[in-house]
Amino acid sequence: MDAHKKLTIGLFGFGTVGEGLYKVLQQTPSLKASIKKVCIKNPAKQRNAPAELFTTHKNDLLFDDEINVIVEVIDDANAAFDIVSTALQNGKAVVSASKKMIAEHLPEILELQAKTGLPFLCEAAACASIPVIRNLEEYYDNDLLHSIRSIVNGSTNFILTKMFEDKLNFSDALILAQQLGFAESNPVLDTEGFDAVNKWVIILNHAYGIVEHPSQILFTGIQNICLSDATVAQEKHYDIKLVAQAKKLRDGKVAAFVLPQFVKHDEPLSFVKNEYNGVVIESGFADKQFFYGKGAGSFPTASAVLSDIAALRYNYKYEYKKLYHHIPHQLSNDFYLRLYLSFDDLKYVPRDDFEWIEEWHAAEERKYLLGVLHVNKLIGKTWWKEKNVSLILTPDPVIENLDIINLKKRSLELAGIM
Ligand code: HSE
Repeated sequence: MDAHKKLTIGLFGFGTVGEGLYKVLQQTPSLKASIKKVCIKNPAKQRNAPAELFTTHKNDLLFDDEINVIVEVIDDANAAFDIVSTALQNGKAVVSASKKMIAEHLPEILELQAKTGLPFLCEAAACASIPVIRNLEEYYDNDLLHSIRSIVNGSTNFILTKMFEDKLNFSDALILAQQLGFAESNPVLDTEGFDAVNKWVIILNHAYGIVEHPSQILFTGIQNICLSDATVAQEKHYDIKLVAQAKKLRDGKVAAFVLPQFVKHDEPLSFVKNEYNGVVIESGFADKQFFYGKGAGSFPTASAVLSDIAALRYNYKYEYKKLYHHIPHQLSNDFYLRLYLSFDDLKYVPRDDFEWIEEWHAAEERKYLLGVLHVNKLIGKTWWKEKNVSLILTPDPVIENLDIINLKKRSLELAGIM
């Protein structure tokens, strides 16, 4: 496609993002992109657009030769994959915002792109308005990406902000997030970390060439965080955030997870409130860089879809440089995590799994400890996700070997404390 070529769009979905895109496109006539048809599931629903625009037949879009771009913003991951595969096989460029679908079908989507040579752009699928995918693809085209720490889910960040700053309870904060159009149709995807891990799979792919299914990544959400955790955080001058983190280890592998984390007040991610997202990248020579922007909502998400549509004018596609032009990285399951656990009863916590327990508060009704354990003591286990347990990582949670812990232990022993 060249800069003068008209983009004729077939749009799937007219919810928060689809309607947002429709309005945004009306305000950007210079783009020479127009929506020819919109495919929807429920024709009875009142829509703020001319009735003749809508159809319920997907093939009206997928087999229309005039339509050269399919934009897919529905939330049924299986239907979305079907649409995307047919569109690419029919010679159409695709823009998608379906994080679940992309994360769960990453190998097939990569293969379809390689086979058809067509663009598949998905900037809106991670951190909405923050152009993180294109940045990771184009700017960090090297081996120097040391770590990425990120808030990738707007709804959970919104809920945590409302709970701890405005003293709303969890369910009221969630209702508000739903009313504002931030939450998924099934909000458990947000609150229990599924949406965040899906986005993390996509980001790990563009950052490190990693191709992994979400089920292979250690994650949880904010469902078990309670008020007493916030009190401890406050005492220690921390915020609690749901942080997606990736860190390159000395053996070249990558430690990656999505878990609640204590964030120091002077860290950039502590500044990220409400539905905003943030990404802190540490690279070889630049040191730290911080990207910040709205991570959910109609227009912020539509803005990323719009940017992808604009990029199609010059036939932009991801090259997946870290995957195809460098040696792709692998995930590591061999590192330790320093973490805080709070729980009602000691019986929920396998104390012997810990390498070291550094702090122990058992007097209160809600007990907690700070300690270090190997990540294999969490992977595939469920005790730490049970209702009565809340796990929060400490700042700088990744420990590669225990030398440092042993040194600490030794100095405490010498001081007669242990
Ligand atoms: N439910 C998602 C979130 C929407 O809260 O981040 C944006 O992807």
